[in-house]
Amino acid sequence: MLKTLRSAMRFRRFRLNPAARRLERCANVEDLRQAARRRLPRGVFGYIDGAAEDEVTLGRNSDAFRQIEFRPRVLRDVTNIDTSTELLGERIPVPLVLAPTGFSRIAHSQGELAVARAAARAGITYTLSTLGTWSLEEVAAVSDGPRWFQLYVWRDRGLARELLERAAVSGYSAICLTADAPVLGRRERDVRLGFTLPPKLGLDTLWDGIRHPGWTWDFITHEPIVFSCAQSRESAGGVNAIALAQYVNHQFDASLTWRDVEWLRNVWSGPVVLKGVQSVEDARRAVECGLEGLVISNHGGRQLDGAPATLDLVEPVREAVGSAIDILVDGGVRRGSDLAKAVALGATACMAGRAHFYALGAGGERGVDLVLKWFAEGFRRTMALMGVCSVPEITRETVRRRGQARGPKQLPDLAGSG
Ligand code: FNR
Ligand code: LAC
Repeated sequence: MLKTLRSAMRFRRFRLNPAARRLERCANVEDLRQAARRRLPRGVFGYIDGAAEDEVTLGRNSDAFRQIEFRPRVLRDVTNIDTSTELLGERIPVPLVLAPTGFSRIAHSQGELAVARAAARAGITYTLSTLGTWSLEEVAAVSDGPRWFQLYVWRDRGLARELLERAAVSGYSAICLTADAPVLGRRERDVRLGFTLPPKLGLDTLWDGIRHPGWTWDFITHEPIVFSCAQSRESAGGVNAIALAQYVNHQFDASLTWRDVEWLRNVWSGPVVLKGVQSVEDARRAVECGLEGLVISNHGGRQLDGAPATLDLVEPVREAVGSAIDILVDGGVRRGSDLAKAVALGATACMAGRAHFYALGAGGERGVDLVLKWFAEGFRRTMALMGVCSVPEITRETVRRRGQARGPKQLPDLAGSG
C-alpha cells in the first residue's frame, strides 16, 4: 500500500515568488484575467477589462472567433512546421503583434518596460502607445526587439511631430495611427467607479487598496505614474488624476481627416499602419493613401458600441483590397488558434491587447512571457492539428463559418481540396 501511495503522490514545488505561484495555476488567458481581477483594485481592473456602453461589441468580437470552425486534414506529416510569416516586409515568428495599450503601469510598476522586454525575448513586435507610462526612450533602452509607435494626434501638432522625431531616433520602425478615437467611448464601468488616471487612493478607494495589498505596495513604492511618452510638453503631462475622457477629449484632435494621414505620410519616412478601420470603404481609402498596413479594430469594443465584430470584416476587406496592403485584426484574440482563424480569413497577422495586459496584471513580466509562449505554442499546435506546415497553407479552405456547412451555398466540403 505504501508503495502505491508513494508512486501516486505528487507535490507541486512551493514557489517563493508570489507572481510565479499565481501563474502556475493559469492555463489560458481567461485564467490570467481572473488572476488579474483578484490582484488589481476594482477600478483598475474595470478600466482594462471594460468597454463602451453595453459592451455589445466587446462580446461580439469574441463570439466571431467562436463562429469559425476548422476543416482539419489528417495524415499530412506535420513534423516540421514553420509558424513564421511576413509583415511590413519583415519576417515575424508568428502572426502576432502586441497592440498599443496606454497606462500599462496601472497594472504593474514595470508596465511598458516589462511588456517590451518580454516581447523582445519572443521576437514579437511591441507597439508602444502615445499614452505610455514609460517614455519612448526608456522603452527603447530595454528592448532591442522590433517596436512600433502608436500615435494619437494632439491638437498641438508640434507635439505630434516631436513624438515622431523621438520615435525615429529611438528606433521605432513603423507608426500605428489610431483613428477610431476622435472622442473617447463611454466606458460605464469607469463612470460607476469614478476611475481616474493615474488611479488615486482616496477614502473611497482606500478599502479597495487594502484588499489588494500586492498591487498597492507596488503602486506606492514606485515613482508616481505620469504620461511619460508625452511628458515633454506641459499640456500633455501632469500627475493630477483626471477622468480619461476629459483628457482625451481636450488634448486630442477630433478634426483629424484623411488629409492628416497624408501629412503623416510626408513627415514619417517609414511604414504607416492605420488602426481602427471598420469598413471596406475606409480600407480602400487606406490603400489609396499608399499606407503599408491597416488594423481592422474597434479598439476592443471600447469606442463605438454596436460596431461590427472585427473578425467578420477580415474577409470582405481582403476581397476588396487584394494583396495591396497588410491587414491586421484585433479584438478578442486570446489563443494561438485565433491567429490561425484570422489568417485563414485573409489577415496577415493579429494584434492582441487585453491578453498581454491581463498577463501583466496577473504576474508582471513573467506573465507576459507566459502568454506569448502560449500564443506561439498554440499557433504551432493548431497548425499541426489542422494539417498544415506553413502559414501560406492556412487558406480560406481551412475554415468555415458555423452554420454555413449545411446551407445551400456550401463552402468547399472535406472532399474539396488537397
Ligand atoms: C487599449 N487600446 C488602445 N489602442 C490605442 O491605439 N492606443 C491606446 O493607448 C490604447 N489603450 C488601450 C488600453 C487598454 C486598457 C485596452 C484594453 C486597450 C486598444 C488596443 O490597442 C486594441 O485595439 C484592443 O485591446 C484589442 O482588443 P483586445 O485584444 O483587448 O480584445
Ligand atoms: C483606451 C485609450 C487610452 O482605450 O485608448 O483606454
